Formats: sequence, structure tokens, C-alpha cells
Amino acid sequence: MLSFLNRKKQAIGLDIGSSALKEAELRPLTKGGYELVSLGIEEVSPDCIVDGVIISKLPVSEAIDRIFTGQGIKNERVMTSISGHSVIVKKISLPAQSDEELSESIHWEAEQYIPFDITDVNLDYQVLGENTATGNLDILLVAVKKDKITDFSSVVKMAGKTPVLVDVDAFALQNAYEINYEPNSQDTVALLDIGASTMTINIVSGTEFLFTRDVGVGGHQYTEFLQKEFNIDYAQAESLKHGQEIENIDATEVKRVLESVTEIICLEIQKTYDFFKSTTTVEHIDRMLVSGGAAHTTGLIEALSRKFEIPAEKFNAFKKIKYNPKKFPSSMIADRAADFAIAIGLAIRNPEE
Ligand SMILES: Nc1ncnc2c1ncn2[C@@H]1O[C@H](COP(=O)(O)OP(=O)(O)OP(=O)(O)O)[C@@H](O)[C@H]1O
Ligand SMILES: [Mg+2]
Repeated sequence: MLSFLNRKKQAIGLDIGSSALKEAELRPLTKGGYELVSLGIEEVSPDCIVDGVIISKLPVSEAIDRIFTGQGIKNERVMTSISGHSVIVKKISLPAQSDEELSESIHWEAEQYIPFDITDVNLDYQVLGENTATGNLDILLVAVKKDKITDFSSVVKMAGKTPVLVDVDAFALQNAYEINYEPNSQDTVALLDIGASTMTINIVSGTEFLFTRDVGVGGHQYTEFLQKEFNIDYAQAESLKHGQEIENIDATEVKRVLESVTEIICLEIQKTYDFFKSTTTVEHIDRMLVSGGAAHTTGLIEALSRKFEIPAEKFNAFKKIKYNPKKFPSSMIADRAADFAIAIGLAIRNPEE
């Protein structure tokens, strides 16, 4: 997707999140699969990246630099991804035509699906196959605003690294899912990555992409609600979320506030499912896999499962990834398995594809 040239060897997966940068480096094994080489995380102040826009580039590039230095990473080639309003991913249907015809017509066909000036976006597409019922071609259309790609590439460059790929969060998530879960084609799964400010929903059937949507909710909302409710600062609210106690704050009250935000998140998921179901013949989502830092929120996974009456569990980004437990303690890998989904999904991309 939306790639730049110069793709030779494996690159570093870098998930530039609004609360933390997550880095993963993998080595493909000759007998198949991958081994973890490095894993880094650096928090960034919540005012650096707001609504998906990198407002302060320097602290973000410094965080990248700290990860690379701290992990002793030699490879300077970086793959990153973006989500949010500047990304449009849509399955469309076009009359059967040759590849040449398609490459000429796609631009003006795409225009009606893209709420931006077509000259402001990088457009990519993939023919998914022929629809046997209609004879039409099913096409996956991907448009990303150029200024956003420039923004994310520029912080990588500022850190002295080379951006080789700017992907879309939803696809990175799907990559991580396919490698780790080896899904069979019957399984329809909703992958939910709930970060600090954005929730990416990607619905897949086996390895087939069905639908994606990004919603502006996430872990930060829990923090905000706690801050307002108890009149405490950001750091205190974060520690409450992490299960710590604060004097004079009643745990039952905390639980109630957390539940009210979970309710908001569930509503957004419900809206997405309703919309998805109105546009497809797929009737049922079998289960949910939840990644992102907010997946750790007390009661969230249980609430999702209860509300949607399907199994929900934390995503395990290291399920099929080999690692040396002397270098990466198993308890750390287990604790962090949901946080690194996108970084791992980026790191497994073969940049030569
Ligand atoms: N143990 C925990 N309990 C509750 N919330 C947690 C926990 N650990 C992390 N979080 C929350 O997860 C969020 C960060 O998750 P993540 O690193 O996936 O976000 P991000 O990728 O930086 O953000 P985004 O994708 O929205 O730009 C924060 O809101 C943080 O408070
Ligand atoms: Mg994120």
C-alpha cells in the first residue's frame, strides 16, 4: 500500500500512537515464521499528536530516536501507519475491465467515494476478484491525504531514519491477525484496536477484508472522565485506570465512571456493526479481538462480550512470534501482547512485496 520505493530488506515496524510510540523488529526464520529482534515503547505527551495530526514534531522524533538508541537498532528503514479522518478505505464494485482500463478509470471512479480533493490524496487500489453474481470487479480502494503521509514521514526523517512505507492501521492490524491467528475462511472476526484517542475497527472473514472504520474514542476518554469526576490531574487519572488507589476516591465510583465510558465505546461499535450489516450479506460476527492499550481497561472486554453476545478477548500479537525469553521476559510479552498489534503487523510486512 501507499509505498515509497527502495524496499530491499526487512524494516522496523513503528506505530506512532498519540500516547505512545511502539516499535517492533522481526527477523523472518528460514523454516518459516518470525523471531522478535527488538521491541520498544516510548510515551509521548498527549498534546503532541491531536486528532491524528502531529502538532509538535520534535518530541515525537526525539521519542523515535530514544527507541532506536535504547534498543540498539541498526536498521534505519521504518514502516509506519496512519488512521483517522485522513484515511478512506472502501470496497467498491466496478464493471469488468482490463488492468489498463482500470488504472485509467480508477481516479475518476474514486472521486465520488472520497470526501477530499482527489489531488490531495495518494490513491491505491487492489482488485479483490470478480463478483460471480454480478460479473463486476470487487476493488479495494485506499486513499490517504498526502499531507498526513508527509507529516508521518517527516518525523521519521527528523529522527534520521528512512520511511519506506506508510500503511494504514487497519491493514497492519489485519496482518498481525493473519500471522498470529491463521484464521479459517469461515471465521468472521471484528478486530478492534482501541488506543488513546482512536478506535480502529476492522471486520475480516478469514483473510478477506470486509470493512473498516475509525472512530474518535479511546482510552483517553476514560482518563478525561475520571479527571472531571474526581477533580484530579491527568497522571492521577491514569493511575486510577491502571488499578491504583487514590485516597478519598471510592473504587465503586471509579468503576461506575469507567463503565459509563465503556458504554460510549460500545455504542460506537454498535453503530459500526449496524452500518456494516446494512452493506453486506454477512449476518454474524463470530468474535472480537481487542488490541491497543485501552484493551487493558478493567471490565471492557467483559462488557463487549456481554453487550454483543459473542466472545471477546485480548489480541495476542506474539501468539506465533518466536522470542528469546532471556531477552524478552515472558511476563512482559504477555502483558504487552495487546499493545503491539499494529507495530507487529507493520514489522511482518515484507517491504519487497
Ligand atoms: N493497564 C491499563 N489500563 C487501562 N488503560 C490503559 C492501560 N494501559 C494503557 N492504557 C491506556 O491505553 C491508551 C494507550 O493505548 P495505545 O498505546 O494503544 O494508544 P496509542 O496508540 O498511543 O493511541 P492512538 O492509537 O489512539 O493514537 C491510553 O489511554 C492508556 O491510558
Ligand atoms: Mg494506536
